[in-house]
Amino acid sequence: MKLSKINHYKSISSTNKKALELAKKGIHDRIIIADTQVKGKGRFNRTWYSSKGGAYFSILIKIEKIEHLKYLTFAAALSVLKTIEKITKLKPKIKWPNDVYINDKKVCGILTESTTNNNLTYAIIGIGINVNQKRFPKSIKNIATSMFKETNKEFNIKKIIIKTKNNFLKYYNLIKNNNYKKIIDETKKHSLLIEKNIKIKTLNKTHIGKVIDIDKNCRLIIKKYDNKIIKIIEGDIISYN
Ligand code: BTN
Repeated sequence: MKLSKINHYKSISSTNKKALELAKKGIHDRIIIADTQVKGKGRFNRTWYSSKGGAYFSILIKIEKIEHLKYLTFAAALSVLKTIEKITKLKPKIKWPNDVYINDKKVCGILTESTTNNNLTYAIIGIGINVNQKRFPKSIKNIATSMFKETNKEFNIKKIIIKTKNNFLKYYNLIKNNNYKKIIDETKKHSLLIEKNIKIKTLNKTHIGKVIDIDKNCRLIIKKYDNKIIKIIEGDIISYN
């Protein structure tokens, strides 16, 4: 797989939405790119701020095993991290499960979705990287950053997307070879949260405690203050320090 087919749009509702539509038609192995999105999707039904100057793209692949799905977000986060590291010399971090951070601010968000059609499973890995934005709306100003804001330099968005795609192909190969350990180990190595105290909201509860690990099933392992260990598969980090 080379992922060399690209659908490029000036403006679109959401590249993930477009990819889902294509998957429904049996189309896969391509990248959907948009210069801006009218309704960029984030996790938990949030909107993703998608002004011109960011990299907004979705990687659409057909997956061989359902088991592979859960590693794709980490693979994408590592791919973005390596891209940013290489071209800026900064040291980004992965904030479990789907964000890339620089200096405690979010530079990238990832939304992985899946759909089935004719017994085939398609994965859509949606990636939003803040590249050349000079400012953000008030509501996210304190939590968001861009590569420009961190370096005072502008970057070629297309190059960032291609580099990230190529990195992703390498990590995806590891997943295809069932080498999940390497993905988890690398994610842990670059983790923002390990050893930090966090407050996390899950579907039915808010927990506080210290992050001690990420396990082989991508779960965040937290030691609560009563020494109980909990394993979280999905949650929203409210704060960390
Ligand atoms: C998050 O942090 O909540 C995930 C944000 C994911 C945003 C990207 S931008 C490209 C792709 N298309 C979308 O509509 N969302 C993802």
